Amino acid sequence: MNNGIVVPYATFLPMEKELGNELRAVFERVLSRSRYIRGEECEAFEQHFAEYCESTYCAGVGNGLDALTLILAAMDLTSGDEVIIPSHTFIATAIAVCRAGLRPVFAEPDIDLYTIEPDRIEAAVTRKTKAIIPVHLYGQACDMDPILVYTAVTEPSARVFRATSPVTESHFAAT
Ligand SMILES: Cc1ncc(COP(=O)(O)O)c(C=O)c1O
Repeated sequence: MNNGIVVPYATFLPMEKELGNELRAVFERVLSRSRYIRGEECEAFEQHFAEYCESTYCAGVGNGLDALTLILAAMDLTSGDEVIIPSHTFIATAIAVCRAGLRPVFAEPDIDLYTIEPDRIEAAVTRKTKAIIPVHLYGQACDMDPILVYTAVTEPSARVFRATSPVTESHFAAT
């Protein structure tokens, strides 16, 4: 049934109008230097993004899946440890957990926000829970306050989760 409402497919045209010339200039610069992996542009980005996040370090990687996998690998967890993730997310969230030898435990989303429901996180925690990846989705941030409070005082295991700064699409909380 056509009720006259047309939902346009996602388009990058507004971004092209706003940033096109700037991006083309950077692209030309990278091309002329012929340095496609790391290099000055990457280092400049890492420095700026670290400053923006008020972090000491930033490491540029090839894609989001690698970023998530590397973060989990750096946490030095044990095979079979559990990571709580939203059931409604891109598949990369679960793949990263599995790639790191860990076990994804799914928590259902909030019906209005589509992001992970804080109460469902609590229900999913077990003695093996070592991290939570609440994914910000569709330009909407997760309801972080209860998640951060919860991760700071997890009971009854008295496990303390430490929340990091926002990392592009996700906050990360870990033991
Ligand atoms: C929520 C979420 N996590 C991770 C990824 C993976 O990012 P990439 O495609 O850069 O590996 C995506 C990609 O769409 C995503 O939507």
